[in-house]
Amino acid sequence: MALKDKIEELKEKNHAVIVAHNYQIGAIQDIADYVGDSFGLAKKVAELDVSNVIFCGVDFMVDSAVILNPDKDIIHPEPKATCPMAKMVDQEELERYRKENPDTSVVSYVNTNVETKAKSDICCTSSNAVKVVKSVDSTKVLFLPDRNLGDYIKRFVEDKEIDIWEGFCGTHDNIKPSHVKDLLKKFPEAEVVVHPECDPKVVDMADHVESTAGILKRAKQSRAKHMIIGTEREMGHRLKKEAPGKEYHFPGNPVCQNMKKITMEKMIHSLENLEPVIKVDENIAIKAKKPLQRMVEIGRGK
Ligand code: 13P
Ligand code: SF4
Repeated sequence: MALKDKIEELKEKNHAVIVAHNYQIGAIQDIADYVGDSFGLAKKVAELDVSNVIFCGVDFMVDSAVILNPDKDIIHPEPKATCPMAKMVDQEELERYRKENPDTSVVSYVNTNVETKAKSDICCTSSNAVKVVKSVDSTKVLFLPDRNLGDYIKRFVEDKEIDIWEGFCGTHDNIKPSHVKDLLKKFPEAEVVVHPECDPKVVDMADHVESTAGILKRAKQSRAKHMIIGTEREMGHRLKKEAPGKEYHFPGNPVCQNMKKITMEKMIHSLENLEPVIKVDENIAIKAKKPLQRMVEIGRGK
């Protein structure tokens, strides 16, 4: 039986749905029922009318789905697929900061572990970070953990003092202005669209700064023949499929190794056995749910 047919059969037999992030390998994207960015995935899982969700992404995305959907079994085909940036918040340091700055709102990127979320006032994704920071009542904000996204937010929020944590995503931070410059020499008419996790110097070179879903939306609208895309290179799979007729160039050829830890074989094992179901400590989940719910309620936008 062809792999695709086997997956379809297992999905039906076990009443399961597959959701996948835009950085998953092409084969997984192709058989997933829904492919999206962090915000889209968080919303989609809540809308699904099934009890088994196979989540192909990294741990912080899966944990958020578990916390927001206690009635569903969220299955992660490879729990070792983690996000290094999400671990860049020292809990004692954050507790100390909160004590010393009681009037400061803590805004955490979803790329954080559950302990950090539980100590936060509100979460955000790359698709609504500016809107979320603008929404908080306080005049002072701590944004964590991505210093590059923090720098990007600061460009749009003038009436708040923003402290920024020193975290970063190695995959995006390694995209250098020289990589973009080299591509622009070859394709001077190219449109440059980058993810806000990129270095501010790369952001300065961009025509548009978007989440992964926003990058796809922009590509569909753009008339450019060449696009320079500052994000993980697997994004090219969806771009070529859903916004064809252009060439996509990835400066520095960035790869997120953790996203690649999920394979077709592991996904099929999860579909067959409906495991491993991910659990989050209930005491932490209760505290982390509020900031996540507030993020979803705010929606996308700048
Ligand atoms: P998006 O929410 O834009 O898909 O980003 C998630 C991520 O981990 C980017 O590195
Ligand atoms: Fe984390 Fe970076 Fe991978 Fe996104 S690309 S999951 S931020 S390591």
